[in-house]
Amino acid sequence: MSSTFGKAFRLTTWGESHGPEIGGVIDGCPANLKIDVDAIQHQLSRRRPGQSKLTTPRDEKDQVIFVSGLQDNVTTGTPLAFRILNTNAKPSDYSNAASIYRPSHADFTYEKKYGIRSSSGGGRASARETAVRVAAGSIAEQLLARHGVQIVAWVEKVHTIRAVAAEFPTRNAVDANAVRCPSVEVAEEMSRAILEAKKIGDSLGGVIAAAVTGAPAGWGEPVFDKLEADLAKAMMSLPAVKGFEVGSGFSSTDLKGSEHNDPFAVKDGATVTTSNFSGGIQGGISNGMPITMRVAFKPTATIMQKQSSVDEQGNEVTLQPKGRHDPCVVPRAVPIVEAMTALVLADHYLRQLRHRNRPAGETP
Ligand SMILES: Cc1cc2nc3c(=O)[nH]c(=O)nc-3n(C[C@H](O)[C@H](O)[C@H](O)COP(=O)(O)O)c2cc1C
Repeated sequence: MSSTFGKAFRLTTWGESHGPEIGGVIDGCPANLKIDVDAIQHQLSRRRPGQSKLTTPRDEKDQVIFVSGLQDNVTTGTPLAFRILNTNAKPSDYSNAASIYRPSHADFTYEKKYGIRSSSGGGRASARETAVRVAAGSIAEQLLARHGVQIVAWVEKVHTIRAVAAEFPTRNAVDANAVRCPSVEVAEEMSRAILEAKKIGDSLGGVIAAAVTGAPAGWGEPVFDKLEADLAKAMMSLPAVKGFEVGSGFSSTDLKGSEHNDPFAVKDGATVTTSNFSGGIQGGISNGMPITMRVAFKPTATIMQKQSSVDEQGNEVTLQPKGRHDPCVVPRAVPIVEAMTALVLADHYLRQLRHRNRPAGETP
């Protein structure tokens, strides 16, 4: 059922948008890792709905409750399981259109696959499920931080408005405005565009950029589980994602080999590259340079405008959606992209340990 992600650091998620709760189990998290629960809660609050006028007003506190695998906030090595309650679902918002397929949402395809689907809230297709990924991603991030690995994501583009960052921003700079774009003037423009779209019941898409610093050379696998392949899968598994690129991505096709190759050099005794079009990954394995990527999110499917659709009986109908939706998902998706990045890297970090002879009992 594809509810599990990762090989060495494995996350299984469960729960639906309008069920009583959502949750996750992590198998493979090393024992004796001190967990900062406030840091998990902080990442969840960056994802939660109702955080600004740019997001859906659904008001979930997203309080994480651990039920297994933690003793005095230290991992015991047993399955690390946690729950997050759904306290603010409003199924009545969907009652007028329960049998109508929302254009570009998952209603039609879930119905075709299972012959049954959640009558409200999008079920597993809802971004509600990503709260679990964020909680688990924060744990993965805490494991990685012990080894100097830092992850940051930010909004680079909303609709056609783009900000180009000269350097990787800090999370504080990203969070300085509700759009999560570190360029203050561009963020204001983006914010105005989102509110304008919301006013007329429409929606916008955008691009999130992400960077990983401090990952050593050697993480990743050479063939099917290339680091960029796993990152692509991680990002493409997120709701509303339509594109992923690593390093120079699609723009690499504009350059010649002589312009695009990353020359090797030695700096402070370490082998580095003097450019980073590769985005920190070569042959599916990290090369020690920053890992850089971009993730494209489409405009939110549910808009507050009349649209042509079809109902479960096969009649052409007009749909007028109700409910609380994000006019643009990217501000909330920033911590989700960070979480998926952390899950992939923690997985490959633990897999890389198996390639070496680690003394038994050593805490990674
Ligand atoms: C943070 C976040 C919030 C989202 N909020 C909404 C929303 O309010 N309304 C909506 O229709 N889709 C929303 N989505 C996207 C849908 O869940 C997604 O489009 C749907 O499941 C169909 O999947 P697909 O777009 O990947 O094909 C959101 C996605 C993310 C990442």
